[in-house]
Amino acid sequence: LRNTSNRLFTPLRTIAMSGVESAKKIAAYKAVEENLPGDAKVVGVGSGSTVVYVAERLGQMANKNQFVCIPTGFQLKQLILDNGLTLGTIEQYPTIDIAFDGADEVSPGKLDLIKGGGACLFQEKLVASATDNFVVVADFRKKSPQYLGTNWNKGVPIEVVPNSWVYVTRRLKELGAKQVILRQGGSAKAGPVITDNNNFLIDADFGSIKDPAALNTKLLAIVGVVETGLFVNMTKKVYFGDEDGTHSVWQ
Ligand code: 5RP
Repeated sequence: LRNTSNRLFTPLRTIAMSGVESAKKIAAYKAVEENLPGDAKVVGVGSGSTVVYVAERLGQMANKNQFVCIPTGFQLKQLILDNGLTLGTIEQYPTIDIAFDGADEVSPGKLDLIKGGGACLFQEKLVASATDNFVVVADFRKKSPQYLGTNWNKGVPIEVVPNSWVYVTRRLKELGAKQVILRQGGSAKAGPVITDNNNFLIDADFGSIKDPAALNTKLLAIVGVVETGLFVNMTKKVYFGDEDGTHSVWQ
C-alpha cells in the first residue's frame, strides 16, 4: 500500500471509529435491558459519550413514564428531555434505585474506576453514592490489564476549589505525582476548565496505581480537594462493548 492517496485509508479509519461507537452502544443497551428494575422510580444517568446510548435505550423502555432521571451534569439534562424522559434532581431524590455511568478506566477484580475525563466527577460520585446499584458502561478500550493508570495515561482527575490549585499541585507532587496539570478549556485563550460546581480540575499522573483506596484517602485529605476521579468499591457490575461486536460483563 502506498500512502499517495487518502482513499485507501479513510474507510479503514471509519471502520475503526464505528467499532468503538458500536461497542459503546451495545454496552449501554445491554446494561439497561438487563438491569433496569421494572419498578424503578429514580434512575441516575452519568456523563460522557457512552451514556448517550443509555439515555436513548431508557427512552425506549415500556416503563419510561414511571421513573425520573437524575443527570450528573449539563450534558445529560438535555439528552434526558430529548429522549422523552422525566428530569429530576438529586435534591428531590437523594435515594436512587439504579444509576448508569461511563468510565475512563476499569481495573479487573475489584472494579475500581478512574472517572472525570469529562469533568463531571463530583456529581457522578454524588449520584453513584446515592444508589446501591451503580452499573458502569464502557467500550473495550477502558479495560485495564491490572492496575488503574495503565491505559488511562492522562492522570487522575481531581476537582479543586479554584484558589487552592497551586497549593494542591504542590501537595500532589509531594505525594509522588509525576506530572500535575491544571486542565485547560480547549484553547490557550479559554483558561482553566470550570466544572458544573464552579471549581477547577487538576489531572495528576501517579503512574500505575496499586492501591487506589489508599491514594484516594490521601488525596481527599488535602485542603482544597473537593472530590477525586478514583471510584473505589462503588460498582459491582461493568458492561463492556467488545471489539468483536459482542459484550462482556465484569462482576
Ligand atoms: C465524565 C466521565 C465519563 O463517564 C468518562 O469520561 C467516560 O466517557 P466516555 O463514555 O465518553 O468514554 O467520567 O466525567
